[in-house]
Amino acid sequence: MSAKIIDGKALSLSVRENLKSEAARFEKKYGRKVGLAVIKVGDNPASEVYVRNKIKACEDVGVKSFSYNLPGSASESELSELIVALNGDANVDGVLVQLPLPKGINEKKMLALISPEKDADGFHAVNAGGLMLGLPCTKPCTPAGIIELIKSTGVPIAGKSAVVIGRSNIVGKPAAMLLLSEHATVTICHSKTVGLKSYTENADIIVAAVGIKEFVKGDMIKDGAIVIDVGMNRDDGKLYGDVAFAEASEKASYITPVPGGVGPMTVTMLIKNTIESAFRCKEN
Ligand code: GUN
Repeated sequence: MSAKIIDGKALSLSVRENLKSEAARFEKKYGRKVGLAVIKVGDNPASEVYVRNKIKACEDVGVKSFSYNLPGSASESELSELIVALNGDANVDGVLVQLPLPKGINEKKMLALISPEKDADGFHAVNAGGLMLGLPCTKPCTPAGIIELIKSTGVPIAGKSAVVIGRSNIVGKPAAMLLLSEHATVTICHSKTVGLKSYTENADIIVAAVGIKEFVKGDMIKDGAIVIDVGMNRDDGKLYGDVAFAEASEKASYITPVPGGVGPMTVTMLIKNTIESAFRCKEN
């Protein structure tokens, strides 16, 4: 089998068309643009790229971005004061703290300070708990994008066997919860799973979010599976996914490329979350 490519860039552009009209509807109704505050601390090169993409996506859609760049030497109290101020800023609907934070700043403590209503990333415990309990909540962007990518194939998720490789709070765990809420039968594996192949070779859907270059090989994939590659592994200046793309393409029915698969959808879902938060805050 030669897999069809799931084009995350194209899907993202079509979702953004809807977001543009939603952003314009908000502006017309409430007399200001939807606002997203993006906080970066220090100069992690990968974070620079991610933050730039997020700000550009805001511009594309008509959302106002408020960009804050704190030096790597910034203290925890400087960052907390900024977060608290943005929580109270009536022009800001979403607050995002780019991770990782420099050593010496407690990431969990900082994320807990973001108001759950403005938590554009969906990382706050209130939103993570809401996802677990099936309550209305802001969903983490990468997992939300993964669900949209799978749905774009037209293959129903309900009843399928899904294996998520990776157990991070940002991707693996929430992706598993979202697949479960779509009625898949979900197994969470990770870098220490013994006999990983025995799980993946029976999976109709594989989500690879383990952070290891080309960890998932072709012979681990069931014929006709849908393979979603969340990996962004840089090696010698080149970007690699968590899936060995060429051999996986021989087995899968649909596969996401790296780059151009999950990445563009993550940024688009962030903007979607922000616009939804803006409306929710006004309408509830
Ligand atoms: N670092 C890597 N991915 C993410 C993300 O989705 N959100 C934030 N805030 N930081 C990240």
